[in-house]
Parts: sequence; structure tokens; C-alpha cells
Amino acid sequence: MTMSKATKNTNLHAAKNTKKDEFYTQLSDIENELKHYWHHFKNKTVYCNCDDPRISGFFHYFSYGFEAFGLKKLITACYKNQNMDLFSQHDCEQAIYLEYEGDKNHNKVPDPEEIGVKAFKGDGDFRSPEAIKLLEQADIVVTNPPFSLFREYVSQLVEYDKKFVIIGDQNAITYKEIFKLIKENKIWLGYDNGGTKWFRVPDNYDIKTESRKKIENGTKYFSKGSINWFTNLDHQKRHEELILYKKYTPADYPTYDNYDAIEVSKVKEIPMDYAGAMGVPITFMDKYNPDQFEILGIANSARWIGYECLTKINGRNIYNRIIIRNRDSQK
Ligand SMILES: C[S@@+](CC[C@H](N)C(=O)[O-])C[C@H]1O[C@@H](n2cnc3c(N)ncnc32)[C@H](O)[C@@H]1O
Repeated sequence: MTMSKATKNTNLHAAKNTKKDEFYTQLSDIENELKHYWHHFKNKTVYCNCDDPRISGFFHYFSYGFEAFGLKKLITACYKNQNMDLFSQHDCEQAIYLEYEGDKNHNKVPDPEEIGVKAFKGDGDFRSPEAIKLLEQADIVVTNPPFSLFREYVSQLVEYDKKFVIIGDQNAITYKEIFKLIKENKIWLGYDNGGTKWFRVPDNYDIKTESRKKIENGTKYFSKGSINWFTNLDHQKRHEELILYKKYTPADYPTYDNYDAIEVSKVKEIPMDYAGAMGVPITFMDKYNPDQFEILGIANSARWIGYECLTKINGRNIYNRIIIRNRDSQK
């Protein structure tokens, strides 16, 4: 049977995405984030479902921290991607999952004989029935999932009503499905958002921009630009008040041509005394405190979600704005 051109293109596209998805989170980044959530983990089953235990910092972090966290169980699932030989560091012949229930011989190390390794019948895709069975056991899912499947990944977590702490691209905030959850306060950002994060990549990972590439001690790293943590576990940072110091003046804060909201080009310059709608950069989400602000919608150069209009000033489209209202100014 010959493959149609469209099928070939779709396969190539999928292979390209899968290839791009192969980058691994550093233990230091995992520690920096997860130290803020300790209290949520006691007696919980944690599931890392996009993680080859041989290279996953998440598996390392939770297996070595199992007792300190007071975990009930750690499940880690390793996907056997179909194009592995092309680029992946994975060399498993088969998709597997591990179940770890803590240190039994009291040497404070997760020994191989304490870790139950089992084979998946299929490829371990997080959407497969076998992986979903594991998901059903989990209380909290923690990982860096494939960015190319981020929407599907999050919608599965929501469908199965799971708590989670996961890594995603900053742009994911603007995805229609993700933004809806953010607006409804069902998802928010974690602690350590934005800034430069370096991820380990396979040696043959193609990085076009020199400044995004580095090799240290023989390991290749890729800087992915603006990366955020997405979660639905409550944390202290989202209850911290953003201190505002500027007063509103019409000259400093122009109104959009076609919608009654003012343009605020820097998050720290949100006026303290403006009660109406304001357009702020998406980096605002890192400072968002739902008691202080209400999210009304999102605008980008193409369209609004929730409102049918564009944010333009003197005919010029203003890129990616979250539309908010200051709850304090309403009082
Ligand atoms: C961004 S990488 C992160 C890997 C690891 N979680 C970490 O943080 O180091 C995403 C991983 O998801 C795996 N993956 C891709 N598609 C998947 C799928 N459909 N189901 C489960 N895992 C998948 C990839 O093989 C890749 O290793």
C-alpha cells in the first residue's frame, strides 16, 4: 500500500514535533519550583507520565525525596516514541512504567529491587488506556509534557480531575483552551516563570540559534525561552499583592481605538487607581493574585477571546494583552 502525500506530510510533521519535544528538565529547576508545594504531597500518589526514569529529573527528585515528601506512591511512565532511533536518548525497546512505594531496606536510596518495573503492552502514550489506568490512581501529576500536545495533555488532567504541576511554554497562556481555564481560575502559574531555563537535549538536537545552545561537560543544553510552570495547586505567591505605585493619567495610558480599556505596556505600571478594564502583557500572569485582579479576556493582534474586538491604538495592533480589572479600585 502506498502512502498518500497528505499522510506522509502529517507523519513528517508529527515526527518533527516529537523530535522537538525531546528536551529534559534539570533537577535544579525542578527543585526550585517544587520546594514551594511540599505540604500538598503528604500521602499522595505522584505520577510522572512523560518520563524515562533513566534520564528524568522528576523521577530522580521524587524517588530520592520520597520519604521527605511523605509520598504514598510514585509512578513513572516512559513513552517509547516511534521515531526514537532518529534522535532520542531513549534506548528502551519497550514502553515501561515504574511503581515505587518507598525505601524498604532503610538505606535512603531507591534501589532497583525496590522499584517495580512493568512493561506496557502499547507505547505508553499518556492517552492510552493503560496510561489512563495509572493516571486514575494518581493524586498529583508532575512533569514536563510534550509541548506539541500541551492542550490535549492539560485537557486530560482536567477531565480526570487531577492536581498537577507541569512545565509549559509561556505562549500556552494564550491558547484558547488554556486561557479559558486560567480565566475561570482553574489553572494558574507556579513560582519560577520566565527567565532563561536550560534543558538537556540529545546531541543531535537541532538548535538554529547559537545563543540558545551550550555544551557543558559534554552535555548539550537548549534554552527554550520563556517557560512557565502551570498548576492547580494553591501556593502562597498567588496570594501576594502586587504593589502598585503609579496613578492613572489619560496621557500615560491611552485607550484602545475600539474597546473601552486602557493600554498598560508594563506590568509594574498598572495604575493603582483605575477601575476600568486594562490591557496588560501576558507576563502579568506571573503576578496574578485573584483577590486583587479579575481577568476579563485576552487580546492578541488577531482576535479577542470573549470579546469580539481588537486592541488597537491609532490603528496599530497591540500584541497579546490580557484584559484585567483591579478589584481594589472597585471598592
Ligand atoms: C519536554 S520532554 C520532557 C521529558 C521529561 N518529562 C523531563 O522533564 O525531563 C517531553 C517528553 O514526553 C515524551 N512524549 C512525547 N509524546 C508523548 C506521549 N504521547 N505520551 C507520553 N509521553 C510522550 C517525549 O518522549 C519526551 O521525552
